[in-house]
Amino acid sequence: MAEVEKIKNITNKSISIIEDASQAHGATREIDGISFKAGSFGQINCFSCYPTKNLGALGDAGIVTTNVESYSNQLKIIRNHGQSSRGQHTDLGHNEKMDEIQAIVLNEKLSMLDQHNSMRREVAHWYFEALQSLDLTLPMTENLNVHTYHQFVIKVRNRKKIIQLFKDEGINLAIHYPQLIHQHECLNDLNIKTNKFPNAEKISQEILSLPMGPHLHKNDVDKVSTLLKQALEF
Ligand SMILES: Cc1ncc(COP(=O)(O)O)c(C=O)c1O
Repeated sequence: MAEVEKIKNITNKSISIIEDASQAHGATREIDGISFKAGSFGQINCFSCYPTKNLGALGDAGIVTTNVESYSNQLKIIRNHGQSSRGQHTDLGHNEKMDEIQAIVLNEKLSMLDQHNSMRREVAHWYFEALQSLDLTLPMTENLNVHTYHQFVIKVRNRKKIIQLFKDEGINLAIHYPQLIHQHECLNDLNIKTNKFPNAEKISQEILSLPMGPHLHKNDVDKVSTLLKQALEF
């Protein structure tokens, strides 16, 4: 998790925090000896429950949390076509209601979230043990944070070759994400020149997401680690 306490310190009555915890369901950060969950810092907090997320539905779904009553009331109106009561449209809203099948699935999976996150941490632990001596950069976790490894992202030099070698073995490696926000065509109007964000640009060329999830076993991690060792020897 980010250093949210620092972000909180610069907010005031006219600046609110909208926290996006979509890749951190269940992650925690300790502040002044107290453990806080991702999605509890902002006035409004968002969780995507897209199927690949740590708390994933069977299709599109998402959650918004807030402790501010007026926001809660307003959000309920907006998600229901702007209706404050049946047939009474007090606002211009959207159709953003979570369908009930997804709600049932998410309720069930919510009870397993902590366990699944622990299993992800165990998978991460196996990766750390197997990869620590290799010529690559492993993810780091600040002492105050409990990571939930939505992704296990490493940095490597010869990404293309590694991806190809894994592909030959039937394993798809992903990149989260290959293109930076300002490099997308829809933001061309901002006219942001190459090298404006040199660190982000460099890192986006080196990152690689290894297979990660509570379903993985030690032998899966061993196979990935062995392949990675071979790829780095090229
Ligand atoms: C950090 C983050 N925010 C927002 C989103 C968007 O979520 P959704 O597609 O459920 O609207 C995602 C999805 O990938 C995400 O990872």
